[in-house]
Amino acid sequence: MKKIIFFSFTLVVFLVCCKTTSKTTTVTTETKPVITEAEETYAKGKWADATKESLTEGYNLFITNCGKCHAFPNVKMHGEQKLGFIVPSMAKVQAKLTEAQGELILRYMLTKKNVTP
Ligand code: HEC
Repeated sequence: MKKIIFFSFTLVVFLVCCKTTSKTTTVTTETKPVITEAEETYAKGKWADATKESLTEGYNLFITNCGKCHAFPNVKMHGEQKLGFIVPSMAKVQAKLTEAQGELILRYMLTKKNVTP
């Protein structure tokens, strides 16, 4: 839990630093989390159309839309059903995303929850 919070914090600091120091160069602000083979295999088994790219997109959607309000939640602490309820409603009500975008975020979270040690 502490590790995840620390990591998220470091990431935010890193992103903020990049933004302010790289005015002259074109840097994409999109972050690319490393999706492991195990994570991809899990996701493909659960959702037929899941890919590494769609998991990455879920992560990026979180960072750009949900990250305004809070860090990436400790997904290990929340039950799958609870996430399946909270995430779509957060996506719709708080972040004003589409159902499909909310689904991508949920998939990324469930993959992190169930695969990542
Ligand atoms: C406008 C601000 C806002 C946005 C945008 C937002 N959230 Fe939240 N979120 C909250 C608040 C407030 C809470 C409840 C307080 C808390 O637990 O920190 C919360 C709680 C949560 C929780 C439960 C966390 C916990 O520890 O109980 C999850 C999961 C969550 N949000 C996911 C998301 C996702 C996914 C998105 C993007 C689709 C998102 N949120 C966008 C404000 C926001």
